[in-house]
Amino acid sequence: MAFCGLPAVCLSLITIISGCHGNAIPRITFPLDSPGRVVSIFSPPDVYNATTLLLSKDEETLFVGARNTLLSLRVNEWGGLILNRTLDWSPTEKDLSDCSMKGKEKTDCPNFVRVLQVLNSTHMYACGTFAFSPRCTYINSQQFSLVTGGKPEEGRGRCPYNPYQKNTAITVGGELYTGTVADYRGNRPVISRHLSDGGHVDLKLDDTLGWLDEPTFISSASIPSEEKVYFFFSEIGREYDFIDKFTVSRIAQVCTSDNGGQRTLQRRWTTFTKAQLLCQASGELPYNVLQDMTTLQPAGGATEGDTLFYGIFSSQWSVNAGRSAVCVFSLRDIKEVFAGSYKFLNKDTLKWTTRVQEKITNPGECGLHNASDNVLRFVKENFLADKSVLPVNQKLTMVSSDHHYSNIAAQRVQTDNDKEYTVLYLLTETGFLHKAVLLEEGVHIIEEIQVLTRPQLVKNLLLSISKGVVLVGSAEGVVSVPVSNCSYYSSCAECVLARDPFCGWDPSRRVCAVISSIEGSFLQDVDGGLVCGECEECRAPVITPRSRSGSGTGSPKSPAPPGELVSVSLNEVVHLQCPAVSHLAQRHWERQNSQISLKIYMQHEDGSLSFLATPSTLGGYLCKAEENGFTQTLIAFEVRQKSSPTLQPVTPSRPQVTQSSETRQAPTTKWVTMLQDREETPKPKAKELQPTMSVRETQAVTANRNVSENKQDRLKVGVAGGEHQLLAKTPSYLQELVVVSVLLALCISALLTIALFNVRQRCRSRTAPHSPGSQRAGAASPQEREALRGNSPSGGKRNGHANNTAKSPNTLSNGTLNGSNGHLPNTPI
Ligand SMILES: *[C@@H]1O[C@H](CO)[C@@H](O)[C@H](O)[C@H]1NC(C)=O
Ligand SMILES: *[C@@H]1O[C@H](CO)[C@@H](O)[C@H](O)[C@H]1NC(C)=O
Ligand SMILES: *[C@@H]1O[C@H](CO)[C@@H](O)[C@H](O)[C@H]1NC(C)=O
Ligand SMILES: *[C@@H]1O[C@H](CO)[C@@H](O)[C@H](O)[C@H]1NC(C)=O
Ligand SMILES: *[C@@H]1O[C@H](CO)[C@@H](O)[C@H](O)[C@H]1NC(C)=O
Ligand SMILES: *[C@@H]1O[C@H](CO)[C@@H](O)[C@H](O)[C@H]1NC(C)=O
Repeated sequence: MAFCGLPAVCLSLITIISGCHGNAIPRITFPLDSPGRVVSIFSPPDVYNATTLLLSKDEETLFVGARNTLLSLRVNEWGGLILNRTLDWSPTEKDLSDCSMKGKEKTDCPNFVRVLQVLNSTHMYACGTFAFSPRCTYINSQQFSLVTGGKPEEGRGRCPYNPYQKNTAITVGGELYTGTVADYRGNRPVISRHLSDGGHVDLKLDDTLGWLDEPTFISSASIPSEEKVYFFFSEIGREYDFIDKFTVSRIAQVCTSDNGGQRTLQRRWTTFTKAQLLCQASGELPYNVLQDMTTLQPAGGATEGDTLFYGIFSSQWSVNAGRSAVCVFSLRDIKEVFAGSYKFLNKDTLKWTTRVQEKITNPGECGLHNASDNVLRFVKENFLADKSVLPVNQKLTMVSSDHHYSNIAAQRVQTDNDKEYTVLYLLTETGFLHKAVLLEEGVHIIEEIQVLTRPQLVKNLLLSISKGVVLVGSAEGVVSVPVSNCSYYSSCAECVLARDPFCGWDPSRRVCAVISSIEGSFLQDVDGGLVCGECEECRAPVITPRSRSGSGTGSPKSPAPPGELVSVSLNEVVHLQCPAVSHLAQRHWERQNSQISLKIYMQHEDGSLSFLATPSTLGGYLCKAEENGFTQTLIAFEVRQKSSPTLQPVTPSRPQVTQSSETRQAPTTKWVTMLQDREETPKPKAKELQPTMSVRETQAVTANRNVSENKQDRLKVGVAGGEHQLLAKTPSYLQELVVVSVLLALCISALLTIALFNVRQRCRSRTAPHSPGSQRAGAASPQEREALRGNSPSGGKRNGHANNTAKSPNTLSNGTLNGSNGHLPNTPI
């Protein structure tokens, strides 16, 4: 094992460890209720499961579909939500008792609103699960009231029965397009059109084999110029018949002008086609399970083909468990795939092949209402595009190994110099909102903000660009977060380092502000984050942005290095805190005239420094942070010997703890609180630490005392050995110091080696492809390995020629629709 006695070796180890993180970690964390990022929560006591959100066209009003309730809220400039109207829409007692009779959980029987759409200028339309008997209703938008009278609107095929099943709905031209399951058991998925009138008829899918296969509906989008509605979902990919239940992500399309066929495909879609969305890096397993999809309209001046669809994908393979990927697809590529050739299902073998028959028409083409039966039969059988839609530039936009993302929203942000950035808002399973900007070199996560306190099964994310807020609908209520808070960054350097496209440094007012509010030029470098190209701090070197607010021990009149005064007695353990400004910064400590030797000093993971107070360790200390090539001083301390010991005659073993200035970081804040709690614990009696005790005895005496536990905490895990040594101070500390130093060095080197090993493992798994021969892929099942090899875009070819000499009975039963597997296909796992 490497002995890490040389500081140089240690330093290089630290560099390797920290360098690997790259941009995949959020720069700043804002826990719930942190002052820097105000999160408003709308959660009246009688409103539950407020998950379905709809913004009015002017974005002034937010409509919310909750449990047994519909709400209309006014959206304020900073995202404040004010209740205007409440509508009760509850099932009757009889509905509820019927639901319970059917064996459903009482908590799942209320009416969960799952469809809420604007129908026309005067009416909205809502559907709910209504005690496992879905129902819909018209809403008068003017008065925000339910339209009553007539028989209740049947919700079947428009809304799921089970509130945990996912569905999607969109209105186009007063017609409602839905993707949901259309039966109580959740076995009959359907994409359909409702509320059609005039010359139009309601349409649904034909019961033909394989139009849908256990789908989970995710979202839908309408592209008016194409006259098309697109559906996004994941389902079983039967074309990959070498794997049992291989999930694939899909995009399906229908034409809004579709009106069914005359004889063949009567009241059925004549324009339904689907294609695979492939979110996969070459050589890796695909991220095959779609979680959410959002549409990003093309920039001004660009064509409709530049419409982008950002999707979050996870993986069904254990190797990628807990990871997620973001992929972006362009409408142009989607249209090209749908205009290409189609696969054909052989009804005898139930195998998909690339078409062998003569091409009669282009499937997916609009306007087949009057087409011949021959053409419609062809359309009916050719609905699965042969090629897969690949992501733009055939690359994954982003991969996160630490976060499981569930919801996404996207926005273009124009900056002054005619540059445009795409900002993504990603909601994690654990309830954090990540704000990320897409740069040429990759993704930079500007910040993470905690918006929910616990994981949620059903939630929604919505962006109001005109109000500048992100809205999250969840069981905890509706949360709204402003897209940015530039004033959080107090200096030009921090403003530039944030690389937030919304924010720029205003040199005249000397504030970090929303760029649209700045008159004249501003300083910003989203691509590089280079402070030295922008700010004057770079030329006027040392600043101390965070040591302004002195803490209790701080002394404003301290000389030379301006810093907080720390009074200590000799032989005391001194612990200096350093605030965290950014997870991407490297913190290190400096002294004026001597080095920070790892033999004497211990630098902790949280950036703090501890050491024994000796004549040589008294003096000034600076904690500096380096980020993106810019170094700034975060805090300065002046450690001095107490002039007259006012405490006990025997040296107290309680270390002097100096709190740093108020910090805004999660870990540090917790740390400070912990320390404050600690301060209240009774002081140890002096006799507990007899100078004559041996090291071993001292351990034994203090092992069960709060004192020793406190110290253990302070010195953090893994350094227990060194810590006990520190406890056993005797007047002849110099001797001990040597022992301490050697042990410390040993411990640190061991720690570093372990950390390096771990981090390297993580680095590798994050960056390197999972080749079949690699250690991890070795753990993959044969199916996973097969998927790795067989996922070429034209995967269909395999099916025709694969050595399937013996038909497996498994495959046969797979081919039949609604395999009686007893699972609810849309139930989120
Ligand atoms: C923005 O940050 C400043 C400074 O931390 C804070 O005082 C303010 O409340 C924040 N505002 C919002 C809307 O988050
Ligand atoms: C909107 O739709 C409702 C319900 O179909 C209908 O009664 C109303 O007349 C429509 N309003 C307009 C302006 O078309
Ligand atoms: C409240 O809702 C009513 C009916 O929708 C609307 O006319 C009114 O303007 C709303 N009031 C506010 C303050 O938004
Ligand atoms: C279908 O044909 C009939 C008459 O043959 C015509 O009136 C109608 O407009 C046609 N429909 C479409 C959608 O082309
Ligand atoms: C409704 O909210 C409760 C918590 O308030 C949660 O336990 C339940 O899962 C939610 N139900 C649905 C269908 O989202
Ligand atoms: C440790 O501290 C707790 C409270 O902080 C106290 O109840 C307990 O008696 C203490 N134990 C010892 C061994 O001092």
